[in-house]
Amino acid sequence: MSSSPQPQEIQAIFDRIAPKYDQLNNGLSLGLHWIWKQMAVKWSEARPGSICLDLCCGSGDVAQLLARQVGTTGKVYGVDFSRQQLAIAQARAPHLPITWIEGDALHLPFADQHFDALTMSYGLRNVVDISASLKEIRRVLKPGAKAAILDFNRPQNSQLRAFQQGYLDYFVVPTAQRLGLREEYAYISPSLDRFPTGSEQVDLALQAGFEQAVHYAIAVGMMGVLVAQT
Ligand SMILES: C[S@@+](CC[C@H](N)C(=O)[O-])C[C@H]1O[C@@H](n2cnc3c(N)ncnc32)[C@H](O)[C@@H]1O
Repeated sequence: MSSSPQPQEIQAIFDRIAPKYDQLNNGLSLGLHWIWKQMAVKWSEARPGSICLDLCCGSGDVAQLLARQVGTTGKVYGVDFSRQQLAIAQARAPHLPITWIEGDALHLPFADQHFDALTMSYGLRNVVDISASLKEIRRVLKPGAKAAILDFNRPQNSQLRAFQQGYLDYFVVPTAQRLGLREEYAYISPSLDRFPTGSEQVDLALQAGFEQAVHYAIAVGMMGVLVAQT
């Protein structure tokens, strides 16, 4: 795969990963990804009754957390362009009031100022145009609403960065290889190299028209949450 994959390549990767995706997420993060996802939901300030969007929802972890947060008076939409991921999301949460939509994060099928809160978990690093994605996120949020965007982060501490690289090279990729998904997980490292730092993400969010933006490094700096308010 080229260093900057095309949208169709990214879509195909996530379609192929879908059947093993949840198993790998739980194993590779030792279940910690649930804590980080819950933090993103908290920072999005979704409340009972909120109308929320989980963008790049994949198999639907964060949409499920949002649905529990907004309750029966709220509404959650999950958008992703991988049909296979959406099929799994739907099968995992038939009892929750979530609407799953096959769509592109760069061209969202929603009117302006539609949502009270938005989450995006491990999606921003994968879109081909981060600035355009942030503008689209801002467009669909109501005034004063927040987006909480969780993803990998490069720790500033060089030893932690070396540990993270080793974790990706010697644990993540070999584990995925055992499930026949080596190439699909080898893409994480170069995508993280290209991903803007926390302060660059803040600048991009402000340039996209958000009023405020803060990036929180979590998990000893190996993950981060960009919280941007319209
Ligand atoms: C690493 S997965 C994250 C899934 C889920 N949010 C989670 O945290 O488990 C990234 C997801 O982003 C989706 N994605 C990437 N680019 C997209 C785009 N332009 N539009 C819609 N979905 C996209 C992929 O299909 C994939 O399901």
